[in-house]
Amino acid sequence: MIRIKELSKEYTTKKGPVIGVNQVNLTISEGEVFGIVGYSGAGKSSLLRCINLLERPTGGSIEVNGRDLTKLKGEELRKARLKIGMIFQHFYLISQKTVAENISFALKAASTPREKMASRVVELLEMVGLTDKKDVYPAQLSGGQKQRVGIARALANNPAVLLCDEATSALDPNTTLSILRLLKKINRELNITIVLITHEMNVVKEICDRMAVMQDGRVVEEGDVYDIFSNPVTDLTKEFISSVVSFDVPQSILDACKGRLVKVLFRGDVAGEGIIADTVKQFDIKANFLHGSIEYIQEKPLGLFLMEIKGEPDDVTRAISYMEGRGAQAEVIRNGL
Ligand SMILES: Nc1ncnc2c1ncn2[C@@H]1O[C@H](COP(=O)(O)OP(=O)(O)O)[C@@H](O)[C@H]1O
Ligand SMILES: [Mg+2]
Repeated sequence: MIRIKELSKEYTTKKGPVIGVNQVNLTISEGEVFGIVGYSGAGKSSLLRCINLLERPTGGSIEVNGRDLTKLKGEELRKARLKIGMIFQHFYLISQKTVAENISFALKAASTPREKMASRVVELLEMVGLTDKKDVYPAQLSGGQKQRVGIARALANNPAVLLCDEATSALDPNTTLSILRLLKKINRELNITIVLITHEMNVVKEICDRMAVMQDGRVVEEGDVYDIFSNPVTDLTKEFISSVVSFDVPQSILDACKGRLVKVLFRGDVAGEGIIADTVKQFDIKANFLHGSIEYIQEKPLGLFLMEIKGEPDDVTRAISYMEGRGAQAEVIRNGL
């Protein structure tokens, strides 16, 4: 478990103090995949780097598995940090060393006995699917393969926590997906807690259990990923969500609609199509779909539809209330013309 309390990081610069992290409180459970989202400059990297004390916080505390890292020094701190792996957007591999040597480098840092080193490297390469690249140099690898080496290196000393700083931001969508699947596998099979930062909601949707949204060094929203996708509170979160779930209906189409425009959201535990079919059957209305999507967040469906509902205003109102009564969330975007 990671317990972050009143954490602050202020940088001293020539131009004066710059706030990176501003009194953040977060608790991340063991075995969880936790996402931190925010635009550039929000303080995500600063926060992540404080978790392994790559940056020393200027206030607050960070407990990892019951130990306050801010109180540790020297050898004790070095040992504690070996149990926190980290991967980066730009991989940071050593270009003059082969894949195997890059990984052994991390093992040496933890004083792994020589005779154990080779077998551990083989194990790690198998874990990340790079067995055949053992003696290759980083320059000969694709971006996705480089990140796999980064992951193997981060896992070398059996960490309890893996920190990922924009680990897929330099990769194309397919490679991103394969790296995210690898991270999920690591999380499940090795029970490693993962904290990942990203500016892409698709990444969060794919593998995170819980998430936080950051702005100006602060956490502005936090919760279960499905809850946040289905019910975002702050405008910033809504903006991030809209990159995954959004309606782009041409204005000319909207202008041609004379009925009431209603956005209807169905959560996973509600059977959306059935409710819409029942509604159309029971009320004297016509429903015209303008947009619809079902997103799967951690295998749980989230349905979002934009409908034009035509009929007598009272019938339309009752039809909407009926859908809400059956568990849908309906929002009238525009009344009938
Ligand atoms: N080493 C540093 N020195 C001075 N200011 C920094 C340093 N690192 C980050 N900052 C500042 O802290 C704020 C948060 O940055 P950062 O944590 O990198 O955000 P993010 O990762 O969300 O893009 C920004 O205003 C940034 O300019
Ligand atoms: Mg960053």
